[in-house]
Amino acid sequence: MGKTFEEIISMPSDELQERLANLVGLDTYKDKLIKILTILLNPDKLQRWFDKNHPNANNVSSFINRKPPLIILEGDVGCGKTELGTSIGDSVARKEKIEILLYPMSLSSRGEGRVGEMTQLITSGFDEVIEMGKKFLSKTSKKARGAVILLVDEADSLAQSRENNQMHHEDKAGVNAFIRGIDRMGYAKIPAATILCTNRINSIDPALRRRATLVLSFKRPDQQQRFEVLKNPLGSLGLTEKEILDISNVDGSEDGTIDYTFTMSDIIQRLLPEIIIDAFPDSPVTYQKVKSIVSSMKPTPPFHEQ
Ligand SMILES: Nc1ncnc2c1ncn2[C@@H]1O[C@H](COP(=O)(O)OP(=O)(O)OP(=O)(O)O)[C@@H](O)[C@H]1O
Ligand SMILES: [Mg+2]
Repeated sequence: MGKTFEEIISMPSDELQERLANLVGLDTYKDKLIKILTILLNPDKLQRWFDKNHPNANNVSSFINRKPPLIILEGDVGCGKTELGTSIGDSVARKEKIEILLYPMSLSSRGEGRVGEMTQLITSGFDEVIEMGKKFLSKTSKKARGAVILLVDEADSLAQSRENNQMHHEDKAGVNAFIRGIDRMGYAKIPAATILCTNRINSIDPALRRRATLVLSFKRPDQQQRFEVLKNPLGSLGLTEKEILDISNVDGSEDGTIDYTFTMSDIIQRLLPEIIIDAFPDSPVTYQKVKSIVSSMKPTPPFHEQ
């Protein structure tokens, strides 16, 4: 049977706090997301800012409040889209001292192809999120008591463009239901936001893309970001700062046959484990071994749109 959500996660959560803190090079994105989520939760804060700085700009303030809260994280593979989308709520939950519930939409919300199944799963998923968002509205204060984040990972598989001629009728109906859900969330004026993650932004339905309040693009790390993510683990394995700097200068494109570089996941999920496995169990990790492993590692190819 299809289902709409993976396990719902409650924040603050110590595990998510750590995962958010471990993300490197994404501080500007973190700040933007935190601002949007804070305004959503606490529209009064924005109103007070307007009152103080732009008392005559009421027309602009209503324009901001009415936007359906949809955020798209798009870009290269293994660069932190899913991690950021999953963990950002933790920071807001702590700052605002409220509970935030993350509803990760499941890939099986597409159903198993029965007529109307995908539409039904998606519609009831939005019903659930909107219902929860309403519960978090406070009767006594403008500040919500909590918030809901709907996370749609690998969104291209769910919200792909209806322009695609080969697209099955059921899938088109499902995308329609999805767009209606996003609109319903916007009109409901509840403390709820949707975050879509995709590495195929061009496959996402244009009607959905134009509803996005914010689109953040993710790229592979540069030398400085590679250094930052390697500094702690390699430092604790005994390498000097100069040696780590040297390792971070290797970007995977050295042999000249490819024109892309390491992703963050190449470094964290492949390089670091390989360094340990290589040395274990007979010898400690050394700079020479790390250098030779990083120099022979090939970066993950980018995802090419069809
Ligand atoms: N900017 C980053 N800083 C630190 N670690 C990162 C960063 N980006 C990714 N990682 C690590 O790489 C792994 C993959 O990250 P994530 O799943 O968020 O990538 P993604 O952008 O969603 O990729 P995909 O497009 O393949 O789904 C995670 O373990 C994460 O901790
Ligand atoms: Mg991902």
